[in-house]
Amino acid sequence: MTAELQEPTTHRGILDWVNEVAELTQPDRIHWCTGSDEEWQELTASLVGSGTFTQLDPAKKPNSFHAASDPIDVARVEDRTYICSVDEKDCGPTNNWMDPEEMKTLMRGLYAGCMKGRTMYVIPFVMGHLEAESPMFGIEITDSAYVTASMRVMSRMGSHVLRRMEELDAAYVPCLHSVGMPLEEGQADVAWPCNDTKYIVQFPEERAIWSFGSGYGGNALLGKKCYALRIASVMARDEGWLAEHMLILKLTSPEGVVKFVTAAFPSACGKTNLAMLEPTIPGWKVETLGDDIAWMRIGEDGRLWAVNPEFGFFGVAPGTNEHTNPNAMKTINKGNSVFTNVALTDDGDIWWEGLEGMPDHATSWKGEDWTPDSDQPSSHPNSRYCTPIKQCDILAPEYDDPRGVPIDAILFGGRRKTTVPLVFEARDWTHGTFLGATLSSETTAAATGQVGVVRRDPMAMLPFIGYHAGDYFNHWITMGKENDAAKLPKIFYVNWFRRDDEGGFLWPGFGENSRVLKWIVERIDGQAAAKETPIGHVPADGSLDVDGLDMTPEALEAALAVDAEEWKAELPQIQEWFEKFGDNLPAVLWTELDGLRTRLGA
Ligand code: GDP
Ligand code: PGA
Ligand code: MN
Ligand code: MN
Repeated sequence: MTAELQEPTTHRGILDWVNEVAELTQPDRIHWCTGSDEEWQELTASLVGSGTFTQLDPAKKPNSFHAASDPIDVARVEDRTYICSVDEKDCGPTNNWMDPEEMKTLMRGLYAGCMKGRTMYVIPFVMGHLEAESPMFGIEITDSAYVTASMRVMSRMGSHVLRRMEELDAAYVPCLHSVGMPLEEGQADVAWPCNDTKYIVQFPEERAIWSFGSGYGGNALLGKKCYALRIASVMARDEGWLAEHMLILKLTSPEGVVKFVTAAFPSACGKTNLAMLEPTIPGWKVETLGDDIAWMRIGEDGRLWAVNPEFGFFGVAPGTNEHTNPNAMKTINKGNSVFTNVALTDDGDIWWEGLEGMPDHATSWKGEDWTPDSDQPSSHPNSRYCTPIKQCDILAPEYDDPRGVPIDAILFGGRRKTTVPLVFEARDWTHGTFLGATLSSETTAAATGQVGVVRRDPMAMLPFIGYHAGDYFNHWITMGKENDAAKLPKIFYVNWFRRDDEGGFLWPGFGENSRVLKWIVERIDGQAAAKETPIGHVPADGSLDVDGLDMTPEALEAALAVDAEEWKAELPQIQEWFEKFGDNLPAVLWTELDGLRTRLGA
């Protein structure tokens, strides 16, 4: 079957590409996605029919579905992710590389006939606003109905996007995805088709994405990490903007002063929670614009303006509850959501570790009986909810503005049990770039591999920089040099995850993080006092609002402490990290390291 028979589009380039892929992958059917409600109903009904989805009780979660993946397909696969630049040296030491032609030959072999017995879905989508000055189009071809349904939640997609692409004869990022499990005549499907062999491949020069073998969000919803971060970071370098792994929030003070903040934390380190925070301090208000990705461009006013290219939240489920993230709970309770690898309760709802109302019995994400006495968790630590951003009660109205919002502060942060204080401020943009470039965090379940190991995760972008990380640091430095520094956001570093001697969190986190946000905006406005330390400016005694906070003065001091000996131990690690980048590392970052060393008296 060829796509041409349906005459689905007048965009020659798209039609040719779809036909070429169909010839290679041999699907039984081609479905051009419209994004309509009827299409959603058909898709979800077929997913229920194939056993991938279980419909939840509509009285509890209307129009919502539970899915459980194959246990081998639960997270991003960084060791299977490639940046296939033409020249190996453009990929840099932090990415996997293979020659693009070699990779294509290899993957064409995998794709040959890989959609037999399946439907090939063609998803026209746009990351960011369709009304943007240059809309960022994509076409995802996938043989997964689960991916198609999820893309409808996570991106602006459908006929209206395709029509616009036709009008503009627009360029687009071709995104090819297959779960890699063809069905022979009469062969029964499984609930979660995937393949032991996985490849998540970006071709930066060509601006193309080829993904094979996984159905997991970060590997398969190609508009998200693959396009909006890896490919977009390359576009951003070439065009002088920033594509970053950042939440965007709007903060309003009791006096009505508005500030916009972005924050880069590695996966499963608190972006979604901070983006939707309910402040514990009276009179302050947080609204959200995005929880994972920010595209930032210099505006005509010289300020840095951010938009969220996504259309939904793909949030970590465990730990989400009415206390930690009431706004996420309200959002998902409205329905229209997909829950993957959480537990299914006997009354047709979902449950996960940390959620209120622990059931006496449930079906675990592995499909096994689960009770509170089970020694296995009910949900995978990287289980996710996928829910429309428009359902969020605290979505800022500016979300719909294609110009975005002017950013006042950028936060970097990670999970560190020791060393890194609750909050400190960079001295300037270059120092802030140094803090981002040396960001360190314990690994989490969001990627396969060992959990809890401290690694450098620059700007929380380690798995997402689509080119040489040294050049990426240089791009950040250049953004500071070529623009008016006074108009750029101030840079801060936070750590919600420092521990006490018993291993408990020193800082209560979640809604209480509003106290840190308050200090940050007061710093920007020159109101809050700070103490200079070798690493940057920490809150001066009494400058952090701890009114009504249930925390001992000793614990607060420990959360804010800068221990010179602990920081001296970081120096050789930073040195070794920087050495990886050779001549591509901007010299000013070496100067920053020397400065830190001198200030520490090391
Ligand atoms: P994201 O993947 O960066 O969006 O991170 P999430 O906001 O989904 O949070 C990931 C995990 O970190 C969840 O289990 C949260 O409960 C936990 N978390 C988020 N914010 C905080 C915080 O302020 N303190 C502590 N202790 N945990 C947090
Ligand atoms: P996260 O998004 O940052 O919310 O965890 C998914 C990911 O990074 O894999
Ligand atoms: Mn992320
Ligand atoms: Mn998140």
